[in-house]
Amino acid sequence: MITLKNIVKIYNIKKPNEFEALHGVSAEIKDGEMVAVIGKSGAGKSTLLHILACIDSYQSGEYTLDGTLVKDLSENQYAKIRNEKLGMVMQDFALIDDFTVIENVMIPLDFSKKKVKNKKEKALSALRAAGIAELAKKPCNKLSGGQKQRVAIARAIVNEPAIILADEPTGALDNKTSEEILNLFKELNKQGSTIIIVTHDLKVAQQCNRIIEISDGKIIN
Ligand SMILES: Nc1ncnc2c1ncn2[C@@H]1O[C@H](COP(=O)(O)OP(=O)(O)OP(=O)(O)O)[C@@H](O)[C@H]1O
Ligand SMILES: [Mg+2]
Repeated sequence: MITLKNIVKIYNIKKPNEFEALHGVSAEIKDGEMVAVIGKSGAGKSTLLHILACIDSYQSGEYTLDGTLVKDLSENQYAKIRNEKLGMVMQDFALIDDFTVIENVMIPLDFSKKKVKNKKEKALSALRAAGIAELAKKPCNKLSGGQKQRVAIARAIVNEPAIILADEPTGALDNKTSEEILNLFKELNKQGSTIIIVTHDLKVAQQCNRIIEISDGKIIN
């Protein structure tokens, strides 16, 4: 369960380019929900997702994840939450270019505090789910945009996280592939994962249980 209370995010604090990107965002996302986050470019969607994914901090308010207040934790505690509970598909994919596809997908397993057996098998099964098992040994710098997007998705789901956060996960994909990926998210949701998808695509948003609309750093709907 995710609870956000009055989250304020300010970039570049006390610098000339200081910028408040979120002005007090409150929301609740229950376990097992599939939520779309929509809004214009620059509205604050990625900012919000990064806070939810514990890869960025916020200046005031409270973010509680399964009863834990996510604020001022140690780097170790953040890393543990990220690794065990969250899977994130970054808008720019954030792959390691000179690693192969399967090496990228295995990263969360390598970072796991728990001992993971059959890492390769797990990574392959995530790649199969993302429809790119045949690319396992290819270096990531030789992939197309859509293929990279699927690698990022495979890496986000490989640890079977309770919460999957995806920033425009179908942005680089054609309609048919986009539908396949959405079906994968729906299937993971059926199996119990909470899914939060940032999207420009209304067709994608409409297939979620709920739509959160952000405008200028505020939830308006
Ligand atoms: N690291 C940063 N430093 C300063 N300002 C930032 C930073 N990241 C984002 N911003 C600003 O915060 C605002 C929200 O950005 P954000 O990336 O969250 O928008 P978005 O809704 O994801 O847009 P898009 O649909 O284009 O991806 C924008 O005005 C952006 O310029
Ligand atoms: Mg964005």
